[in-house]
Amino acid sequence: MTSGIARQRVLILDFGSQYAQLIARRVREQNVYCEIVRHDISVERIRSHAPQGLILSGGPKSVYEEDSPRCDPEIFSMGLPVLGICYGMQLACMALGGKVDSAPSREYGRAHLRVSGSNALFEGTSDEMQVWMSHGDQVSSISEQFETIASTDTCPFAAIQHEELPVYGLQFHPEVTHTPEGGQLLANFLHRVCSCDGTWKLGDFAEETVLKIREQVGDSRVICGLSGGVDSSVVAALLYKAIGDQLKCILVNNGLLRKNEQDTVIETFTDHFKADLTVVDGENRFLTDLAGVTEPQEKRRRIGFAFIDCFKDEAEKIEGAEFLAQGTLYPDVIESGAAVDGPAATIKLHHNVGGLPDELGFELIEPLRDLFKDEVRSLGIELGLPEDLVWRHPFPGPGLAVRCLGEVTKERLDTLREADAIVVDEIKSAGLYRDTSQAFAVLLPVQSVGVMGDARTYEDAIAVRCVDTDDFMTADWSHLPYDLLATISTRVINEVKGVNRVCYDISSKPPATIEWE
Ligand code: XMP
Repeated sequence: MTSGIARQRVLILDFGSQYAQLIARRVREQNVYCEIVRHDISVERIRSHAPQGLILSGGPKSVYEEDSPRCDPEIFSMGLPVLGICYGMQLACMALGGKVDSAPSREYGRAHLRVSGSNALFEGTSDEMQVWMSHGDQVSSISEQFETIASTDTCPFAAIQHEELPVYGLQFHPEVTHTPEGGQLLANFLHRVCSCDGTWKLGDFAEETVLKIREQVGDSRVICGLSGGVDSSVVAALLYKAIGDQLKCILVNNGLLRKNEQDTVIETFTDHFKADLTVVDGENRFLTDLAGVTEPQEKRRRIGFAFIDCFKDEAEKIEGAEFLAQGTLYPDVIESGAAVDGPAATIKLHHNVGGLPDELGFELIEPLRDLFKDEVRSLGIELGLPEDLVWRHPFPGPGLAVRCLGEVTKERLDTLREADAIVVDEIKSAGLYRDTSQAFAVLLPVQSVGVMGDARTYEDAIAVRCVDTDDFMTADWSHLPYDLLATISTRVINEVKGVNRVCYDISSKPPATIEWE
């Protein structure tokens, strides 16, 4: 499912910026729909999107390097408003007669900006403001057609405007929070310069998507694999709204789910939504396949195969099923290159459903592929999903198997499930669940000596893992209060049979990873 719905939009040309997604988020916060596209998108392709305006992102290269990413210079004469940010501004300047050089010193951090005169971009902002700079090059001269509209002590052309074309450039980054008035600048560009009406809403998105799903699906049935996580739940809720009982949900209980996870899914989707849900009891199958396996990648491989088998067996029983719904999100689409009109665009498999193979023969429906994670959460709330589910931390496809170090057995999984539930319960009680990105227990493959009452024990050890991260690529361990750690430790040791020791994992990623396997 693509984003072909007619709505006002802005295109963001990505020159390799670490902030391209952030720009997109900021634009959508102004209720303007936007998409990130390749920097070398053709003028024809741009026209086919009929955008209200273009934003050129920053990028790590120098515009005067031979292999630096370029855009078609014709984009500046299409009559469309263009806002170049950092590298994007330098490109615009170069294309329109200015000069870019390396700055006397690399400028990274806060700078004090002075605005000169009145201008649509700075309408309603302060005359002087803090901005965030991050650049090695800067514009050293502008052509006569450009006018300087703001500067800093070290950057004479910090903001510029073309006199005839609707082309603007900012050397600083309006999209980061360190530019406190950046939101206003973007709002001015979108509403005043691009004339966007700012009416894009998630609610409208839901309505539009529901209509589109109905049209695409007709009388066929759609299968949706539920995992207990946010993305698949929102997909199912959206599909349920669109096609009611033409939706068939499948939950494969692989025996590796968290405590009460199956019950929560059943409660949400059959009691609340009255959806047609089948729970496949695959516990024995998965645990048999995993018996004796301790190597992490082998565990993943076996779980993947077993999942496909179970899912396929169930899916084949559903008459008239032609579609498979997946919870692919916009960041997955961008990462895979599929969002950017590239010739070699391949879509990353949504690894939370275990990577279902093409041979299943279904057409894919991916209703969330235009959305960011926080938008998916808001949509979930709007569709009536319980807050607890919507705010759930991510959980890996292979489930507790990769948190049960060493051999995976029912008994060891039960121990882990109990400990994990206590960790999450206490973090929630302390009001810290939403402040942390992932929090869980890991069962270690070691026993250690302890003393309980007057007796010596020789029992399992649990590690508590809790991390803060924005992107899950890097992460810091959460600096949880000692009192909370103490409560978790006491409860786990007192309440979970067979555990006499609790450790807190204080490794960041890298060099460690978030999961232990
Ligand atoms: P790591 O451990 O690589 O985890 O730092 C980064 C994020 O990815 C999740 N993760 C997985 N998710 N299948 C998944 O669906 C997997 O095999 C898998 N391994 C790690 C992990 O929980 C974290 O959010």
